[in-house]
Amino acid sequence: MSNWVKVAPFNEIPKLGARVVRTKTTDIGVFRTEDDRIFAVNNSCPHKGGPLSQGIVYGDKVACPLHSWKISLVDGKAEEPDVGQTACFNTKIDVKGDPDHPANFGRLCTKGSTLHLTAKLDNRLLYPEMRVTREAPRKRVSWDESLDYLTEKFAQTIEKYGSDSVAFYISGQLLTEDYYVFNKLAKGH
Ligand code: FES
Repeated sequence: MSNWVKVAPFNEIPKLGARVVRTKTTDIGVFRTEDDRIFAVNNSCPHKGGPLSQGIVYGDKVACPLHSWKISLVDGKAEEPDVGQTACFNTKIDVKGDPDHPANFGRLCTKGSTLHLTAKLDNRLLYPEMRVTREAPRKRVSWDESLDYLTEKFAQTIEKYGSDSVAFYISGQLLTEDYYVFNKLAKGH
C-alpha cells in the first residue's frame, strides 16, 4: 500500500516558501525552492523546535525564524558550527488530469503526464555521452570527440546512401533554439 500523502497543487506551494502538513504524530514542512524543487522535513528545528516552515528558504536550505540556524532541506542537518538534524521525508511531484475538464475528463497521454520530469536536472543529459554499440555502457566524452564522431558517421552515410538516408526525429519538447539548430543542420545537407 502506498504511504504517499497528497499535499497540495504544486502552484499552491509558494516559491521560496512552505506549506505545513499535519499528521497524527508530527508537523511536516513542505518547501519549494527557487528552482522548483520540493523538500519535506520535520517542521521542528533541531535547536529549540522553531517552526522551520516560517523560516527563510534560500538555495536548498532554510534559516530557522527563531535563532537563524541554517537547516539543509536535503538531509535535515544543521550547518556548522551548529550541530543537529531534523527528519526528512521523500517527496514527489505528480501530474494528474482535471476530471472536470471537458477536453479529456482528466485523461492524460504519456507525454502530458510525464512532461514535468523533463524539468528535473537529475534526469537530463547535461554533457555528451557515447556508446559505440547498443550493448556498451555510455561513456562521457568531450564535445569535440562526440561532434567529430557524428560528423564522420553522417558523412560516411551520406556518401554511401545519399542525403535522403539521414533524417532527424526531434521531440516536441525541444525549444525554439533547438529546432533552429536542427533545421540548420538538416538543410545544410
Ligand atoms: S529554534 Fe531554530 S535556531 Fe533556535
